[in-house]
Amino acid sequence: VLEGQRIYNVLASLPVPTVAAIHGVCVGGGLERSLACDHRVVTDSEKTKLSLPEVQLGILPAWGGTTRLPRLVGLQAALDLLLTGRRIDARKAERMGLASAVVPSAGLDDAVRTFIRSLQSGSDVRPRRARRRLLSRVLDDTAPGRWVVLRSARRRVMATTGGHYPAPLRILDILREHAGGSVAESLAAEARAAAQLLVSPVCKNLVHVFHLREDARKGTGLEGSAAAAATQARPVEAIGVLGAGVMGGGIGQLAAARGIPVYLKDIRHEAITSGLQHARSLFDKAVERRRMTPLEAQQAQERISGGVEYHGLSQADLVVEAIVENMEVKKAVLAETEASVTSHCVLATNTSSLSVNEMAAALEHPERFCGMHFFNPVHRMPLVEVVRGDRTSDETVTTVYRLALALGKIPVVVGDGPGFLVNRILGPYLNEAGFLLAEFASVEEIDRVARAFGMPMGPFRLIDEVGIDISRHAGAALHEGLGDRLSPAPLLIDVARTKRLGRKGGLGFYRYERGRAKGVDPEVYPELALVKDARAKGDARIEELRTSIRRRLVLAMVNEAARALEDGIVASAPAVDLAMIMGTGFPPFRGGLLRFADTLHPRGLLDRLHALHEVVGRRFEPAPLLVRLAREDRTFYQAFPGTVGA
Ligand code: NAI
Repeated sequence: VLEGQRIYNVLASLPVPTVAAIHGVCVGGGLERSLACDHRVVTDSEKTKLSLPEVQLGILPAWGGTTRLPRLVGLQAALDLLLTGRRIDARKAERMGLASAVVPSAGLDDAVRTFIRSLQSGSDVRPRRARRRLLSRVLDDTAPGRWVVLRSARRRVMATTGGHYPAPLRILDILREHAGGSVAESLAAEARAAAQLLVSPVCKNLVHVFHLREDARKGTGLEGSAAAAATQARPVEAIGVLGAGVMGGGIGQLAAARGIPVYLKDIRHEAITSGLQHARSLFDKAVERRRMTPLEAQQAQERISGGVEYHGLSQADLVVEAIVENMEVKKAVLAETEASVTSHCVLATNTSSLSVNEMAAALEHPERFCGMHFFNPVHRMPLVEVVRGDRTSDETVTTVYRLALALGKIPVVVGDGPGFLVNRILGPYLNEAGFLLAEFASVEEIDRVARAFGMPMGPFRLIDEVGIDISRHAGAALHEGLGDRLSPAPLLIDVARTKRLGRKGGLGFYRYERGRAKGVDPEVYPELALVKDARAKGDARIEELRTSIRRRLVLAMVNEAARALEDGIVASAPAVDLAMIMGTGFPPFRGGLLRFADTLHPRGLLDRLHALHEVVGRRFEPAPLLVRLAREDRTFYQAFPGTVGA
């Protein structure tokens, strides 16, 4: 770190004006080098992106970025980049004063020469920051202003990270102590913080997750020699979507946004109209947030067409089925579709609970069929489970895998089985929350424990989010497929019998106003014949209770993940971890479900499970795989290393 700082200091103290010419991706140390120059001339190419992504890896920009960026663009604009690591384009860089000039990408050299000549002729090339509004200047440039900005930034960081991520807090510390002071002292603080953060478990876990994502991005969905052959796979230039409902509409919008023409087929004209409207509202939002220009949004919208006829699918290289969750209907519709598409067209189902193998039996070419399981809402949730059926061909797997990547998603290949991977692991966790609530704890307490562990929301908020009816349906399907250890908690059956639907109906375990949770609904306790637990408050055993809640929630997932590995639903521990992080928001700072489980070692897990098995019930009977790993003294990652994406 110090050596990097020393080199950039030499650059920063050169007696001649220095200009960095930036074209393409300029992130991390590269951007810090440009910050050590007097000016940055940036091309307007779509490929040009600037960021300081260190915070995403649990560290901070320590080659001068934390020190120089706020001095250049002001504290508020700098925090936006430093605390999120997000990427910005040339125009944004110019608006915030990071770029001194934006030039066309053709002829960058000439543009830089012209820029230097204008410097020599004494023209005003001060970045726009110099022209900021008065309030902004007060907040950035005075000690009380900075205090206000940093205090509210700290609050935001605590609210979004629960304090689990030390790097953004260290960045704020450095800015609090040094933003208005000496550069040398600020650099020294950067170096000290980097040295500490680099060896922290959070940093190691975030780097691990980064590698998992990269592996998925570079993968083909196939292993060994099949992976090499996958480079021949067919490109997907147009897709069809069956069913223009919540999921089908979302998939269509996503494909169109990514440049792929889509035909939405439904049996109802109204469904197609509302699918198109849903897409338009998302494009409008993207324009509002400047993620798309109005022209791009218009072009994307024009890529979506729809109708009730099959012939619109004749151009499709791939058709995703997202109609009602009913096996017989799906089989009939897939068979009809197969008869209407080209001989190379791949068919995929977005089913969340039905068997891919059973559906394949209705097809003439089961090898060209697999699952492509998106999560709701499609435009937000990053995971796609690519469900490989027994007869699915390599070409089909890799075609769907590639399409998921092209749609900006993270694909994980899984096998066919109840709930596939993510919902199967989530099932016992949500169910356990139901048992816990009936036994002794409050909705608030259970959700708080899950959030304190790092989950983005507690299990009851999640059930509300998914929909109490849909959760109940999914729970029943898992019970049927996996047997008694998935017997639904009676409380969850009871709540599904009430009128409560979750967020979409305005009332679930929580109350909702205009889609926003407004606290747990107190009426839910009498309605479910529960006494809101007095022990949860002020009791000396509260910590013990919390440990027990956390242990039961987390071990329910770990034990099921072990069974999914054992059943061959998933090939590797890294694949489980990536899928859980991307599909459920399992806390990245823990490195993944099984990486976290490995910190307890299978023997530790086994001891805890044995105890729960005895005290809580049979559903905690340890998975045979865990017993074996404990005996062999091997962790999940040792026994199932593998790479994601293969
Ligand atoms: P939805 O009810 O919103 O949409 C289904 C659409 O299919 C409706 O527009 C309906 O008119 C249409 N449809 C029914 N029969 C049809 C046929 N024979 N041909 C063409 N269109 C037909 O349902 P949703 O929520 O979009 O679910 C669709 C599929 O996606 C289901 O298999 C579901 O399990 C799965 N899924 C749902 C998730 C969710 O959270 N909603 C998440 C992941 C998967």
